[in-house]
Amino acid sequence: MTDPLRPNGPRIIAVANQKGGVGKTTTTINLGAALCELGQKVLVVDLDPQGNASTGLGIEPEDREYTTYELLLDEADLDSVILTTSTENLHLIPATVDLSSADIELISNEKRSYLLHDALRQPAMAKLDFDVVLIDCPPSLNLLTVNAMVASHSVLVPLQSEFFALEGLSQLMLTIREVRQSANPNLRIEGIVLTMYDSRNNLSQLVEADARSNLGDLVFSTVIPRNVRVSEAPSYALPVLAYDTASKGAQAYRALAAELIKKNEKHAA
Ligand SMILES: Nc1ncnc2c1ncn2[C@@H]1O[C@H](COP(=O)(O)OP(=O)(O)OP(=O)(O)O)[C@@H](O)[C@H]1O
Ligand SMILES: [Mg+2]
Repeated sequence: MTDPLRPNGPRIIAVANQKGGVGKTTTTINLGAALCELGQKVLVVDLDPQGNASTGLGIEPEDREYTTYELLLDEADLDSVILTTSTENLHLIPATVDLSSADIELISNEKRSYLLHDALRQPAMAKLDFDVVLIDCPPSLNLLTVNAMVASHSVLVPLQSEFFALEGLSQLMLTIREVRQSANPNLRIEGIVLTMYDSRNNLSQLVEADARSNLGDLVFSTVIPRNVRVSEAPSYALPVLAYDTASKGAQAYRALAAELIKKNEKHAA
């Protein structure tokens, strides 16, 4: 039986929103860990020069010898850029601030939008047998984010449950449309996930109602609550699922992983 998440090689998902601080990295790390609990082998690609996913998964800057930057420039092979983390089956390609110069350095490279696409489809990828690749994008619609969208099957959009949350979404959708037209016609929207949701706050409820009425089924049923354990976990270099396994945040990311798999089963059927 074919796995619905990976009809051909791993399912590649870009976690993107050009708005800063909306929960992209938190979602990448914790959805990744939750998918691992469900038996998936997951690769997180840190595509943000801030390197927050790398730090949050416990890989210190001095241990980032080969990074996404070398991968994109074809200066390092997959075996040397992929690191293990403390979570079983959760792997990482780290990033450093080096990546911030990629935008400019690559400007004259004809294949500049396809570098991550090609890197993730090299033959050596097959024997690594990943089920899912999650790409943590920077808060920008720059060449790095375009690389992620060209490389991916779908885009998962974290949306912070606060005022102005929906602003900027049309710009993101426009970029997705452009990538579909130019390079990746099958790019789907995996879904929009509300993050940092506070059920006692009317504003969170308003944003949710607004998102559901405007975006319908694209919005995941699961919402990620604002939960202090989620924000503490990265400083212990752990996904919240390991840091406080019973926390509301850990439970929500487990529910999100289950919902994502279910959605894909439906899609594959
Ligand atoms: N569910 C949550 N509950 C509490 N705090 C959260 C939650 N999700 C994220 N945070 C906190 O909010 C901040 C922003 O989250 P995160 O770094 O994941 O956003 P981001 O979109 O990746 O940011 P950037 O755009 O800078 O890459 C972090 O301090 C994080 O710990
Ligand atoms: Mg981030």
